[in-house]
This record gives sequence, C-alpha cells and structure tokens, in this order.
Amino acid sequence: MLAIKESRDHLLPWMPWAKDDQHLDNEEMKQMLISMFSEQFHSGLDYPYGIFLRPPQLTDGQQQHQEVFVGSTGLHPRIEPKNEAMEIGYWMHVDHLNRGLCTEAVRALVCVGFDHLRLKTLEIHSERNNQLSQRIPKRLGFQPSAHPSEHDVIVWTLHREDYIKMLEHHHDQSQNDNQWNNTLATLEIFDDDGTRVYPC
Ligand SMILES: CC(C)(COP(=O)(O)OP(=O)(O)OC[C@H]1O[C@@H](n2cnc3c(N)ncnc32)[C@H](O)[C@@H]1OP(=O)(O)O)[C@@H](O)C(=O)NCCC(=O)NCCS
Repeated sequence: MLAIKESRDHLLPWMPWAKDDQHLDNEEMKQMLISMFSEQFHSGLDYPYGIFLRPPQLTDGQQQHQEVFVGSTGLHPRIEPKNEAMEIGYWMHVDHLNRGLCTEAVRALVCVGFDHLRLKTLEIHSERNNQLSQRIPKRLGFQPSAHPSEHDVIVWTLHREDYIKMLEHHHDQSQNDNQWNNTLATLEIFDDDGTRVYPC
C-alpha cells in the first residue's frame, strides 16, 4: 500500500484510483482490501498478482533481506466470453521503472493465460497517450486496434495461435536466443493458495 502512495504521481495520470490513497494508512482497510483480492482470486472474479523481487541467496543459504514489492499485475476477466479472453493490467513502483521487470511479469502472465488457463485471447487496454504502457504489448507481440475505442483507448490483442507461432519461431531461430524464454530472471508465479502456476 505504501508503494501506491510513493508512486502516486506517476500512477495518477493513468490510474485514477491512486488518488484515493488516504485509506491506505488504515491497517483495517488494508486487511479488508487484501481479503477482497484473495476472495476475488478464489472465486475467479479477478486474478490480481503482486510482483516481488527475491533477494539473492547468501552462500550459507540464508536470504539477505525480505522480498521487495516492485509492482502489480493481473489477469482480469472483463471481456466476453469470460472463459476465453482476459485483460492484463499492470503498474510499477516508481523506484523500479525501466528495468524490464514489468515486461517480464507480463510475459509470464501471458504464458499463464495461454498455457495454464487455456485462454484464446489476451488483451491489454492502454490509453492512446500512455506511450510507456504501450511499449510493453508492442514488445511482446500484441497487435494494436486500428482505431482507439471509446475514452481514447487502444486495445492490444494477442491470440493463442499467434503466441504459439511466436514460441515456435523463436525456438527455431536459436535455442539460445529465444526472446520468449530468455528472460531476465528466474520468474515464478503462485496462486494465493501457494500453488505454482508458472513455469507451467
Ligand atoms: C507502464 C509501466 C508499468 C512500464 O513500466 P517499466 O518499468 O517502464 O517497464 P519495463 O521496465 O518492463 O520496460 C520499459 C523499459 O525497460 C527497458 N529495460 C531496461 N532493462 C531491461 C532488460 N534487462 N530487459 C528488458 N528491458 C529492459 C526496456 O528496454 C524498456 O524500454 P524501451 O521500451 O524504451 O525499450 C510504468 O510506466 C507504470 O507503472 N506506469 C503507470 C501505470 C500504467 O500506466 N499502467 C498501465 C495502464 S494500461
């Protein structure tokens, strides 16, 4: 919650909910929000994820510090039919921008969406003027809608068959130069009951 307060200025132009940050100081409210996210996850209403950096292990096997919260992403069942398509959203903490971390997290969620949830389509909705946001779907092979929809939003789409073609193409090009496998870091995704869903 502190991350939202610290990142308020850079989130506000694109995420109006960031202005309501007064309640984030309230411990009871924080717990309520966390339970709400958890319930949504369990009931399949929404799949919000935190993005955490795990500190390097020391030689004696001890972790150096606690995991660091660097941003948030999510699979949102807002598109019909709900069992076939979802939207991916994301934001990063202001101290962790431009390190490729958001791209890595979204790349992993794309794999979860197609390989784990067996979706047919993933979308990213981005305001036309939000250039920083649009670089992410562009880099991951999503295709933009020809015209902005209502509220000046560009819908970026990736279909399952194109995702599979991309994987095959990169695999054929070079086993060592696979844009879809050659990630920055070892990335793991867990459901809120602790089940690992990525790598699938
Ligand atoms: C949109 C947003 C999440 C992007 O975050 P980010 O930290 O800049 O994202 P990334 O780091 O993954 O990618 C950005 C840059 O990191 C660079 N980068 C740095 N090191 C990298 C590495 N090792 N590997 C890959 N990319 C790297 C990339 O090249 C990229 O720059 P480019 O687009 O000029 O090529 C962030 O600006 C944000 O939180 N915005 C406000 C909320 C928002 O708009 N959300 C989206 C609503 S649709």
